[in-house]
Amino acid sequence: MNECRICKNTIEPFMTFGKMPIANGFLKDNEFKNEYFYDLSPAFCSKCFSFQLINQPDPKMMFHENYAFFSKTSKFMQTHFKQFADWIEQNYFNDKNPFIIEIGSNDGILLENFAKKNIDHLGIEPSSNVAENALKNGVNTITKFFNESLTSDILENYRKADCIVAANVMCHIPDLNEIGKCANSLLKEKGVLIFEDPYLLDMLQRVSYDQIYDEHVFMFSAHSVNNIFKEHNLEIIELIHQKTHGGSMRYVLGRKNQRQKTNNVNYFFEKEKEFGLDKFETYIKFKNDCEISKKNFVQSLKNYRDKGKKIAGYGATSKSTTVLNYCEVDSNLIEYISDTTPIKQNKFSPGMHIPIKTYDFFLENIPDIAVLFAWNHKNEIINKEKNFVNKGGKFISHVNLNNY
Ligand code: SAH
Ligand code: TMP
Ligand code: ZN
Repeated sequence: MNECRICKNTIEPFMTFGKMPIANGFLKDNEFKNEYFYDLSPAFCSKCFSFQLINQPDPKMMFHENYAFFSKTSKFMQTHFKQFADWIEQNYFNDKNPFIIEIGSNDGILLENFAKKNIDHLGIEPSSNVAENALKNGVNTITKFFNESLTSDILENYRKADCIVAANVMCHIPDLNEIGKCANSLLKEKGVLIFEDPYLLDMLQRVSYDQIYDEHVFMFSAHSVNNIFKEHNLEIIELIHQKTHGGSMRYVLGRKNQRQKTNNVNYFFEKEKEFGLDKFETYIKFKNDCEISKKNFVQSLKNYRDKGKKIAGYGATSKSTTVLNYCEVDSNLIEYISDTTPIKQNKFSPGMHIPIKTYDFFLENIPDIAVLFAWNHKNEIINKEKNFVNKGGKFISHVNLNNY
């Protein structure tokens, strides 16, 4: 029997993706024999509507001095975060001397926009390699996990914040009741908690099941976020859908009755209800959709291979770990995966052990078929790879690329 991480209701997984390695755990061949695996099984709580993983590896196994994801590798995301920073400044800094705290600030992609303007800011980032990058760029950063004890330190050494922001990290944190408490202590009276994460509705509609991996212990919806934070006297005052990471939602929460709610809030609640996001049957349908997707994806790879086509992967994303391991696709089908992140290169993909190569290697060993694992960066990549496509190269994916 399992307990909902939020409301303690009894929950059961509605499916399993099988044994999975750490999604960002790119490794050398001498590390294969000690590779860690856990059971990747999502569950839906019909009481508080939280979509969650039954098991999540210890955060210290995922976020450390060799963390493989650097936010600034994407130019599109750099632009996104610049606009995000301007939007926060325009809408949520009431104070003459504002203070912003970011949870999971990574290489400083968001906070550098405030640092450049000398706006008081603080990043909290446990992965020391990415945090160092931020510090080098003048972003004030504490290399620790955000939690209650750190909150006490911040109150002692800094002050209350106008805004606590988090991008693609709130859904990584297993104990959100603790985060609710911390936000309550840290925010000024009219302060706001703003976060964005991949959106459950997009994942269900697009069958982008690769959003499900160890780091994403939750996939949020307006319904579940409301239930998680209302216990901490915080309410949703704004919802804005984002194109990032294959469809995300930005949630803005304020203290109860301190700020006006926009009409978007009702709109998304209704939309989620219409879709049946609160119904267990929806998740059974999703399970079936995943199984169909797996069958089709493997079949199309085999067809290309049998026709003698050279197949490579493009972008060794954390998401691709779920696709490759769930579909049991190894280097018999995909020869190599190219990625621009140095820490991933010349290693092997988690679990399936496909070689990870540099971008130059891709240019020198052009495949016929490129599996676009970084499908969420499609526009940026297609623009860059006009030459590949013009010469007859083809991008494919397990998701429908026309939707992005
Ligand atoms: N905000 C960036 C990075 C997202 S990746 C972006 O959107 O691109 C998630 C980051 O959160 C990682 O750098 C990870 O080290 C960090 N992280 C994970 N758990 C955390 C926690 N409990 N407190 C603070 N940061 C955390
Ligand atoms: P993400 O989907 O989690 O943002 O990860 C994207 C991965 O894809 C990251 O490892 C960097 C890689 N990548 C490339 O190799 N080339 C590119 O042009 C882009 C945008 C990303
Ligand atoms: Zn629950």
